[in-house]
Amino acid sequence: MCQELKILKQGAEAKLYICNYLGKPALIKERFKKNYRHPDLDETITKERIKNEARSIVRAKAAGVKTPTLYLVDFERRRIYMQHFENSITAKDSIIQIKKSGTGDVASLDALARKIGETVRKLHDNNIIHGDLTTSNILLVEKNPSASELNWLDHDNIELVMIDFGLSHVDSSAEDKGVDLYVLERALISTHNDCPDLFSKIFDAYKSYSKSNIKEIISKFEEVRARGRKRTMVG
Ligand SMILES: Nc1ncnc2c1ncn2[C@@H]1O[C@H](COP(=O)(O)OP(=O)(O)OP(=O)(O)O)[C@@H](O)[C@H]1O
Ligand SMILES: [Mg+2]
Repeated sequence: MCQELKILKQGAEAKLYICNYLGKPALIKERFKKNYRHPDLDETITKERIKNEARSIVRAKAAGVKTPTLYLVDFERRRIYMQHFENSITAKDSIIQIKKSGTGDVASLDALARKIGETVRKLHDNNIIHGDLTTSNILLVEKNPSASELNWLDHDNIELVMIDFGLSHVDSSAEDKGVDLYVLERALISTHNDCPDLFSKIFDAYKSYSKSNIKEIISKFEEVRARGRKRTMVG
C-alpha cells in the first residue's frame, strides 16, 4: 500500500505526500511531532486533530459540501489518506490570478465569492464549524472534466472542495459560527488586501441562503469583530 511516497508540501503542522491508493491518486497528510510539546500532550492533540479532520470530512460530504474522499486513518503513523485532486487550485491562487489577469475579474470574483458564501453557510447549517477558514483551505476543481483546456475562470464548470478540517468541531451555537466567519474575514484581510470587498460579498451570499438563526449569527459575528478591534487597539 503506497510504497512510493512523493512529498508534495510541508506545512506548519503536517507533511503532505502523494501516492497511489488502490489505483487512485491519493494524498497522505502526516502530522509530525512537535518537540516543544510534552510527548503525551502532543499525541493527544495530534489524535484529536486527526479525528476532527476525518469526522468533518465525512460530515461535510453528507451535508452536500464536497470534500476529499477519506480512504484511511492511521493513528499510529499520524496519517490520513484521502483523495488527491490533481487538477485543482486553491481559492487563494485563483483570486490572485483573477486580480493579476485583470480581465473579467469582477464577474469571476463575484462568482467565486458567492460559492464560498454558499459553501460556508451549508457547513454552518449542519453545525460544522471549520475552525480555519482561509482561501488556502478551499480548492477549486472542475465539475465535468472536459477535453478542452481547463479554464479556472469558467465558474459554471467549477466547484469548491473544502479541506483542512483539523481544527473543526461540531457546534450549533451562533457564537461559534460568528467566530468562524471572523476568522475568514481576518484571513482575507491579510491574504487578499487588494480585494477589500471580498468578505462582504461572501457574507452577502452566506446571508441570502439563510436558515432560521441568521440574525443571531450576524450579531454574534459583529460582537466578535468588535471585541477583536478592541484587542487590536489595546495592543
Ligand atoms: N485533497 C487534496 N487535493 C489536492 N490538494 C490538496 C489536498 N489537500 C491539501 N491540498 C493542498 O495542500 C495544501 C495544504 O493542505 P492542508 O491545508 O490540508 O494542510 P496544512 O497543514 O494546513 O498545511 P499548511 O500549513 O501549508 O496550510 C492545501 O492548501 C492545498 O494546496
Ligand atoms: Mg491549510
